[in-house]
Amino acid sequence: MAVIPVELAGRPYEVRVDGGLLADLPKQCGALLRKKRVPIITDTNVAAKWRETVGASLEIGGFEPRWLVLDPGEGAKSWVNLERVTDWLLAEEVERGDHVLALGGGVIGDLTGFACAVLKRGCGFIQLPTTLLAQVDSSVGGKTAINTAAGKNLVGAFHQPSLVLADLDALETLPARELRAGFAEVIKYGILGDRDFFDWCAANGSAVIDGDRKAREYAVAQSVAAKARIVAEDERETTGTRALLNLGHTFGHALEAETGFGERLLHGEAVALGMVLAARYSVRRELMGDNEAGAVTAAISSAGLPSEIAALGMDATGAKLADHMRHDKKMDAGTLPFLLLRGIGEAFMAKDVELEDVAKFLDSQLQAN
Ligand code: NAD
Ligand code: GLY
Repeated sequence: MAVIPVELAGRPYEVRVDGGLLADLPKQCGALLRKKRVPIITDTNVAAKWRETVGASLEIGGFEPRWLVLDPGEGAKSWVNLERVTDWLLAEEVERGDHVLALGGGVIGDLTGFACAVLKRGCGFIQLPTTLLAQVDSSVGGKTAINTAAGKNLVGAFHQPSLVLADLDALETLPARELRAGFAEVIKYGILGDRDFFDWCAANGSAVIDGDRKAREYAVAQSVAAKARIVAEDERETTGTRALLNLGHTFGHALEAETGFGERLLHGEAVALGMVLAARYSVRRELMGDNEAGAVTAAISSAGLPSEIAALGMDATGAKLADHMRHDKKMDAGTLPFLLLRGIGEAFMAKDVELEDVAKFLDSQLQAN
């Protein structure tokens, strides 16, 4: 088992990465569960695969699992569900010192975490991430949120979990497309700050996707360790360090907005394309050589992720995509900070990027091929 500490002053917690964790909950987290009744929030897809294992493991430990099963998908991160979850937790008589289990991907983790942040001004929760994306990114670091009509993740709170149990077995039931999308966030840690890890991802991406257990454990543990370091340094994203985690997200967000935030382009796929675009735009600005952008494109494409926006078949112009960026929540006093690269492993925040230039660059990418 890999155990990665998240060192936050006064609120440290562990991320454990291994197989068999969901079948071993009393041992893994029983000490945090003060009452017999244990509230668990999940979605129907995850429940279909994991409810039996999780329920049985808690019952063997003498606990009584209590379930709230929501419809899957990004739409679950809503005001309506926030009300539903908090009302349910209140009916379950959850107290501040109790822990709620969030069993699922980033959607369930973000929604449950936010509900726990506001329930009685904050109760405990444990992340049981079941997607690769959630294991390497969303379950660690305490960002919680719901979406509103104005955009994604615009209402939320920082609320750290007490424990994260990343069970590699959960990845066995994850659809391959979701697995690949999560791998984009794994490669991201290499591109933003660790050349050696990038090289490892480029060489081992297909092993991770194809199910090699050792490769998966290494990928998840290395990613979590990178995220834990960044979060410990800049928990509330105030110094610029944590903002590096948004590499590829500004371009990616514009693509998601253009394609409707849905099945057409998953978040991780948009991040993959966004990282390719950030690398190529860095070349345009003569920050690094074309070969570096080529290596980013090759690593992403060899993991089965999309790497060319021209292939998306969008009816969009560069100006239209750049316009989506104007509504980005990272907009600061009229300028949009952009994460660019001085090389693989050397991301930095540029504050002098003109959206008109980005639009011209995007036009060239849309017309490529
Ligand atoms: P998700 O939670 O929607 O899960 C993807 C799909 O896989 C869903 O249909 C889900 O039901 C299904 N699923 C989950 N685990 C499964 C399993 N083991 N077996 C079978 N099916 C399974 O999506 P996601 O990619 O995990 O998370 C995306 C969300 O995460 C977005 O809302 C994004 O904003 C958020 N996010 C948050 C942070 C953060 O720091 N809080 C970081 C990155 C992303
Ligand atoms: N996924 C971005 C962050 O946690 O800051």
